[in-house]
Amino acid sequence: RLRLRPRPSHFLHRSCSAKSAPALDGTEESDITEKTSTKTFSELQAERHEQAERTILISCPPNISEKKFYKYLSSYGAINKYFFYETFGIYAVVEFADKDSIGMLKSFSSIPSLQHECAIPFKSRFFSLVNNHPRDLSAAQPSVSCLKQSVIPLNELLRKLSGTESIDEQLYTICKEYQLTEENTRLRFLVCSLVKDIAAAYFPECSVKPFGSSVNNFGKMGCDLDMFLDLDSMSGKSNPKKRSVFSMEYQTKRVASERVATQNTLSVIGECIDQFAPGCVGIQKILNARCPLVRFSHQPSGFQCDLTANNRIAMRSTELLYIYSNIDPRVRALVFGVRCWARVQGITSSVPGCWITNFSLTMMVLFLLQKRNPPIIPTLDQLRDLAEAEDECIIESHDCTFVSNNKIKPSQNTETLEELLQEFFEFYGNFAFNQLSINIRKGKEQHKPEASPLYIQNPFEQALNVSKNVNQTQLGKFVTAARESAWLLQQERLKQPVSKTKPWGLATLLHPSTQSSGGRSKKQRQPASERIRSLLDSLKTNKQTSGFLNGPN
Ligand code: CTP
Ligand code: MG
Repeated sequence: RLRLRPRPSHFLHRSCSAKSAPALDGTEESDITEKTSTKTFSELQAERHEQAERTILISCPPNISEKKFYKYLSSYGAINKYFFYETFGIYAVVEFADKDSIGMLKSFSSIPSLQHECAIPFKSRFFSLVNNHPRDLSAAQPSVSCLKQSVIPLNELLRKLSGTESIDEQLYTICKEYQLTEENTRLRFLVCSLVKDIAAAYFPECSVKPFGSSVNNFGKMGCDLDMFLDLDSMSGKSNPKKRSVFSMEYQTKRVASERVATQNTLSVIGECIDQFAPGCVGIQKILNARCPLVRFSHQPSGFQCDLTANNRIAMRSTELLYIYSNIDPRVRALVFGVRCWARVQGITSSVPGCWITNFSLTMMVLFLLQKRNPPIIPTLDQLRDLAEAEDECIIESHDCTFVSNNKIKPSQNTETLEELLQEFFEFYGNFAFNQLSINIRKGKEQHKPEASPLYIQNPFEQALNVSKNVNQTQLGKFVTAARESAWLLQQERLKQPVSKTKPWGLATLLHPSTQSSGGRSKKQRQPASERIRSLLDSLKTNKQTSGFLNGPN
C-alpha cells in the first residue's frame, strides 16, 4: 500500500518545534554512547560511519501509522532502529541491519512523475513515502511521536535552572539539555553519508566525515554540521610492492598547488550537490577562504552544512577536544555553561563576524582548566609525551601527535564547578589580553606575536591565531561581561536557591534582565562596572592564583 520514491529537490521547508517522546522500536539503545570511554575517537567515527551507510531518510505523509510503516519497511529487510522527527512535515530515519536492504528498497522505488516540473533522476537514500490509499489512513490514525531536534527555549532552561539545588547542578543541567542527542548525532552522520554518495560518483572510495562540534562532545542541538571530504583514503593505499621491478601510478591532471586541487574538487562537488542532491539548498561556494568550503542548508534535517576538503588538522583538533571532554565531567559542563552564558550575553553569534567563536571560548575554558592547581586537564605537550608509536601524526609538517586512548590519569583537583565558573570570570575579567596569548599546548600564557586583540594560538598550526577575527570592541564586551558576572556570582544572595521559581545562581547571569547587552543605558550601568572594577582590583592584589600575575612565560 505504501510506496517509496526518491524525493525531488525543490520542496519547501519551515522549521517548527518537534514533538517529544521517543518512537524507537524495541531494540536496545545503541551501545555507542555508553562505551565512549573505552572506544577511541576513530573507532567511534568508523562505527557511526558504517551505521549511516545502512540508514535512509524518509519524508512521511501526515497521520502515518507507525505499525504499518514498520511492517512495510521491514519487508525490505530487518530494521535495527528507527525514529521520527518533525520539521516541515514528518521524517523518519531508518537503520537497516544490512546494507543490501537499501539496494532492494531502491529497486522497488520509482522516480516521481511530476505535472509541471521534471525530476532529476538521481537515486539517493532520501525517499518519500507515498500513501496510495489516503482514505485508509485518514482521521482515526494516531500520528507518530516525533523526537525533538531543537534546543529548549531559554525561558524553559531558566525555569529548570531555578529548580536546581546548586550551581554545579545548574551547569550539568545546561549540558544535559543542550547536548546533541543520540538521534541527532545519527542524523548528522546520515547527512554526511548522503553527501558522500554525491562525491562518490567521482571518487568512489572517498568518505565524508563530520568534525567540529558535531563530534567533539561540545555540540549543542542546532549547531552547524562541519564536514570533511576525505579523498586520501584512496591515495593512502598506493604503497607499491617493494620487491617488484615495476610499480603503477595513475595518470592524473595536474594543478599548481594542493589549494587549487581542493578548490577545484569542492567546486565540482558543490555544483553536484546544488544540481542533484535532494533537500540541499542555498549552496554557496566560498573557495577563496583560508580553508575553502561549500556551504549549504540541508532542509530535511535543518542542518547548516560546511563542506571542506583537505582539512586534516581540523579533524585532529576535533579529536583533541573529544579527548579533553572525556578526561573529567567538569570539562563539558563548564564549556556548555560558558558558551550558553556567552550566547545570552550577545558575545557569540550564529552569524560569522568579528565575534568570539564557540571554538575560541572552548580553548579559553581548557586553558583555565590547565592552569588550576592542581590542573584538571593536561597540556597538549603532556598529551604528546604520553603518545605511543601508533599515535604519531604529522600533518603538513605540523606535529599533531597526542595520546589517543585512556592513559590519562584523573585529576586530583576537587574544585566545584561553581568555583571554576567564578575563576573563569575573574581570570578572563583580569587577563592581560593586550600583551599575552593563550596557548593550550604549553598551558601557559605567552607574549603575543602580533597585535590581534585576542590571540589564541592554534594548537597544531602554531603560527595561526584561532581568534584572529575578533576585534577590540568584541573583546571589550567579553571582558565587561566576565567582570559583571564575576561580581554577580560573588553576591551571597544569588548563590542560594530562593524558591523553585525565582532565578538564582547561574540563572541570574542568563536572565535577560541581567544581560550586559540588554538595553540598559551606559549611564545606568556605570556604577556596577565601577564596583566590579574595584572588587576585582582587590582580588588581584589578594590572589596569586591568576596566571597573568606570574608574568608571561
Ligand atoms: N577550527 C580551527 N580553527 C579555527 C576555527 C575552527 O581549527 N579558527 C576547527 C576546529 O576543529 C573546530 C572546527 O574547525 O571545532 C569547526 O569550526 P566551527 O564550526 O567554527 O566550531 P565548532 O567547534 O564546530 O563550534 P560550533 O558549535 O560553534 O559550530
Ligand atoms: Mg561547527
